[in-house]
Amino acid sequence: MIKEKEYVKRRSALVKKLKRHSITILLSAKAQQRSNDTEYPYRQNSNFYYMCGFKEDNAALVIVKKDKNSKTYLFVQKKDELLELWTGKRLGKKEAKAIFNVDAVFTMDKFDKQITELFKDKLSLYFDFTMKDERVDQLRELGSNLLCHYNISHKVGELRLCKSNAEITLIKKALSITKEAHHLAMSKAKNLNSEDELQAEIEYVFKKRGAYSDAYTSIVACGNNANTLHYIKNDEKLQNNKLILIDAGCEYDYYASDITRTIPVNGKFTQAQKELYSMILSVEKEIIRMVKAGVMRTDLHTKSEELLCEGLISLGILKGDVKKLIKKKKLKKYYPHGIGHWMGLDVHDTGPYKDTKGKEIPLLAGMVMTVEPGIYIPEDDTSVPKRFRGIGIRIEDDILVTKDACENLSNEIFKEIEDIESL
Ligand code: GLY
Ligand code: MN
Ligand code: MN
Repeated sequence: MIKEKEYVKRRSALVKKLKRHSITILLSAKAQQRSNDTEYPYRQNSNFYYMCGFKEDNAALVIVKKDKNSKTYLFVQKKDELLELWTGKRLGKKEAKAIFNVDAVFTMDKFDKQITELFKDKLSLYFDFTMKDERVDQLRELGSNLLCHYNISHKVGELRLCKSNAEITLIKKALSITKEAHHLAMSKAKNLNSEDELQAEIEYVFKKRGAYSDAYTSIVACGNNANTLHYIKNDEKLQNNKLILIDAGCEYDYYASDITRTIPVNGKFTQAQKELYSMILSVEKEIIRMVKAGVMRTDLHTKSEELLCEGLISLGILKGDVKKLIKKKKLKKYYPHGIGHWMGLDVHDTGPYKDTKGKEIPLLAGMVMTVEPGIYIPEDDTSVPKRFRGIGIRIEDDILVTKDACENLSNEIFKEIEDIESL
């Protein structure tokens, strides 16, 4: 759990980044309609959550900065006995004031009036204008007299880049559940019929162990399906002698995990699968060894391209010179994505990759990033030796950057061939 003290600290850090005479508005996520009158399970907006930890719908956090001083206001839903009967208890204004260390709590029905008042002598408005929400236009309208409109998400994103100890603890907890799920998948795949059956086993562990849900829709892709990068249909039969690419991670108390393992359906890798897998695994380990503060993510990517390209040449899948193959995008066909991304409250964490001047941000101690090289060879690619066709492999771990090195937070999730086969 993140303590209130930490939210207060985050808000002071944000205030330091804001212009004087500004108003900052962060909105809660809107409940999303699934169909007719059913909704998706509610999940709070990550930026809003990061700044205050409030989990309810229909809420707003407002920070007003005058000179150096600032005031913080939380807007919450009004108590309503009848609605609470249907959708559950609301904290309400009084309780919220007791829990959250803000200057005042108002109910949401006062929002427009209060905001209009607060806008009066301000010069700048900070807001996430990219939110898909009708309230965005409303706020743009209300704030039309303010000179400058800024996007707040870049600033919150900067704060979210480096994780606190409490955040790392939650990511580790998510990973301990995800580990159990992947190990269960390794031991059960042989006895299951379909991708969705395997998906259900994985997500059963997520729920049973207290995760909110998956952090993203699980990918369970057997054989050639692994060559569709965002394969989420997961509705085909598991075929003997094929591999299954499983990209699945749970979200625990708002924090993501993001793990890919590629395992044989029947528990044993074929010779061709083994050769390709070992090559990718050694690249993954090599890149992880490079991770430390000060290194550029793009350099990790470039190195992964070189290593994977060399590997494909040595397996006879590509022919020619490494540099030329990469330049001519011949490798991109088999390695079309990046080496990894920031991870935290979101699986693809929204922390920026470049600073406001457009310069790449180097790895910093406390960042968590994925390392996830993969090779995808379509079954109809006749330019590749037949034994490799239809194989897609990715290996993905979650890495904490430290000052002089890194810590592989998912180190305990099996990825060595012998370990996978032993399960
Ligand atoms: N699970 C999404 C990704 O690996 O980036
Ligand atoms: Mn990832
Ligand atoms: Mn993933």
